[in-house]
Formats: sequence, C-alpha cells, structure tokens
Amino acid sequence: MTARSTRPSPAPNAAPGDLPPRFPAGFLWGASTAAYQIEGAAEKDGKGPSVWDTFVRRPGAVRDGHTGDVACDHYHRLDEDVALMRRLGLGAYRFSVSWPRVLPTGAGRVEPRGLDFYDRLVDALLGAGIEPTPTLFHWDLPQALEDRGGWLDRETAYRFGEYAAVVAERLGDRVRRWITLNEPFVHMSFGYGFGVHAPGRALLLDALPVAHHQLLGHGLAAAALRAAVPGAQLLVANNCTPVRLRADARGAADRAAAEAYDVLHNRLFNDPLLLGRYPDLSAYGTPDPAWGGVVREGDLDVIGAPLDGLGVNYYNPTWVTAPADPSAGLPFDLAEPEEAYARTAFGWPVVPEGLTELLTELASRYGNALPPVWITENGCSQPAGLRDGARIAYLAGHLDALARAIAAGVDVRGYFTWSLLDNFEWAEGYHQRFGLVEVDFATGARTPRESFDWYRKLIAAHRG
Ligand code: FCB
Repeated sequence: MTARSTRPSPAPNAAPGDLPPRFPAGFLWGASTAAYQIEGAAEKDGKGPSVWDTFVRRPGAVRDGHTGDVACDHYHRLDEDVALMRRLGLGAYRFSVSWPRVLPTGAGRVEPRGLDFYDRLVDALLGAGIEPTPTLFHWDLPQALEDRGGWLDRETAYRFGEYAAVVAERLGDRVRRWITLNEPFVHMSFGYGFGVHAPGRALLLDALPVAHHQLLGHGLAAAALRAAVPGAQLLVANNCTPVRLRADARGAADRAAAEAYDVLHNRLFNDPLLLGRYPDLSAYGTPDPAWGGVVREGDLDVIGAPLDGLGVNYYNPTWVTAPADPSAGLPFDLAEPEEAYARTAFGWPVVPEGLTELLTELASRYGNALPPVWITENGCSQPAGLRDGARIAYLAGHLDALARAIAAGVDVRGYFTWSLLDNFEWAEGYHQRFGLVEVDFATGARTPRESFDWYRKLIAAHRG
C-alpha cells in the first residue's frame, strides 16, 4: 500500500537537544530486529526450516515472491552490524533467536553451531557496551512442529519451554533481560486466523487455541528462564492498540464492537499475563471459560506468574465499527479513521498521541498489576533513500507522546525503535523500509540514514 496523505507531518523537533529531557535517568535507548527478517543463512550451519521458510515458497504469499533466504545477511555481517549499533550509542539491542537454528526440528537434537552464533552476538554486544535483549519467539516456528499442529497443539507450549531452557543454559550467564514471545496476537490472527503470515492457516475464530498455547508456552519458558538465570528480567512483547470509533459511528452496536475488538487484540493477551484470568470472550462464542477444554486447570497460574515488565509494541490505533453483516463471523468491522492523518509508506496512520492514550489506559486498567513498561517496537516504513525527515518526525512525535505518558505517571523504562536495518517485512517482502540504516538488498551494503544520526544525537544528549 502506498497511500499517502497530503497533510504535512507533525513538525519534527529540529534538534534532539530540543526534546524536553523528560526521560528518567537510566532510561534505556534501544533498537529491535527479528531473526527471520535480518539473518538470512536460511540453511546454514544445520539450521532447520521454519514455517516462514515454507510459507515464502507458497505462490502469492509474499509480495513479488521475496524470501528471507538472504535478507540482510546479518548472520555473516554480525560484526559490522554491532559496529553500527555502537556508533548509534544503543544501550540495548533487541534481537530474536531463531528456534530452528538452535533446535532444527524444534525439539531433541541441539545444533551447537546455531547456539554459537547467538553466543558470538551476545559477546559482541557486551563488548560494545550494549545489553543483549533476546526474544525467543518472533514467529519462526520450526516447520517440524508445525507439521504436528504448530501452536494449535498444546504440546508446542512444552517444546517452547524446553527450547527456552536450552538457550538460557548457553546465554544465561550474560543475558539478563529476556522476552519470551513477540506479538502473540499478530501471530494468532495473521498466521492462523487469516492466513496472511506463516503458517498460512485461515481458521478465523478456530485459531483461538493459538492464543492460549502461546501464553502457556510463555509461562513454561518463563519458569525455565527463572530456574536457569538468577535475576532474570522477563517480558512479553505484546502488540497493543487503542481502539477508536469514528465520529459518525458511535451507537451502542459500535461501542460493543469496540469492546469486542479490545478483548481480542489487547485483553486476550494482557489480562491472563497480568491478572491471571481471561477476559469475557462471549462476543466470540466461547462462553465456556475453559474454551471447550483448551484451558486446563493450573494453566492460568503458569501464565500469570509475575512478569518483570510488559513490552509494548505500538504502531497505530485501530478504528472499528459494528459489523455490517453480524452473521459473517466477527463481532466488529475494521474501519478507516475520518481524520486525514499523515500515513507511513505502508499506509499506516501516524498517530503519536495514541501512544500516550494507550499507556495511560493500560495504567488505569491494570493499576498495580501493571509492571514497568518497555516500548519494544515503534517506528515506520518510509520510501527508500537516506533523507528520511518523515521518519525523524515520526520518532520525535512518538517520543514526545511517550514522555507525556511518563509525566502522567506511567512507569516506562525504555524504548526500542523498529528497526535498526531495513529488512524482510513479512508478507510485504523488501517493499517496506523501516530501518535507521538503509540496506541495499543486492549488495548487502548498509548506509545510515538521517534518522540514524538524529537518534544517535538524541541518545547522546540524554546520556550526557
Ligand atoms: C511488528 C512485528 C515486526 C515488524 C513490525 C513492522 O508487528 O513484530 O516484526 O514487522 O511489525
């Protein structure tokens, strides 16, 4: 999508020093990536196939048939990439571990060369003064586990716990902050509900067990990490969105649709983690609290064990209306905002104040049950090129919104921008560029953009 608004972007802060120093001392400045999106080396050193290796070969699944076979070739350019991070002055780097690189068939035999890669990465980061912050699952499930049902199968949760133990044993002497899952909502809905991401299953509401099994996997992985890593700091990175109604659609049915959407996107994943219970899912036809046997006794204790932080990935609010056809299956329709927001190259509306709204709502919804928050993703796709003032405006606007949430009392400890590098953007292939660093995918050459320099100065100003 290339829809762009003619409305000017919000004015960027001219210089980073102009950003009010409203970030607490010790605030962590980071950047995020994910294994399948940057590593390449799809078959190198014994790595097994993931669902994404399979999915990208399905005709029509990814724009222009792009694959992550090579991606940014980060697997072979680790040192160069860590040097870029050091130049940027990052306090932390969020990457993901590829499960099938470590366990080629998802369970059983460990591939030491896969672990060696992450070992080298962690050492390189620490040598550069950057805190490694691995995510254990960023959507690249080993294909062998998908063949046995993937996240529809409860057993996958146990395999995830075992995989977490393997990684913790190798890296736990040096890694303190861990993220178990990335965006379990997006993985459930895009991967299993609508089939637009791997594994490409279009089960609509029959995908709901994927939510529970991922969360159970989180709980089992968290227990394994706690056992192996004294003082571990554990987070989940949830995609969260403020849900909005258009001014012309605010009747009772629209409000019910907004509530139902909030349950599916936000509360289905935050409530069990933070409150140890699921929200009322009756809008989705599962009035039975055990979801027909999917949720077993004791599961919610495992899932709801205390977290050290909530990772929040924020891109934009979501607008909904009452469904035009209530018999069609879902209790909401997605809508477009009536306001002429600036748009990213992806077509996503740029709504920085949605981040303040989101965080203050999370704080009032969960109260003392909300642990400290880290923004684990936020950023935008912009056209190729090094002069990316629109990205700077986006980041400045969102950091200002973040500072407002902190001033309003929300305990936010850090911000990881998405992304360090242009990378493989899932179903969009290489068409969406989210990087502070431009990547030439023909040669692998990296060139920092203006936004890189802007973020570098911002970090230096806050550190200084
Ligand atoms: C998030 C994903 C991340 C990236 C950004 C743009 O949903 O977690 O991998 O694709 O969107």
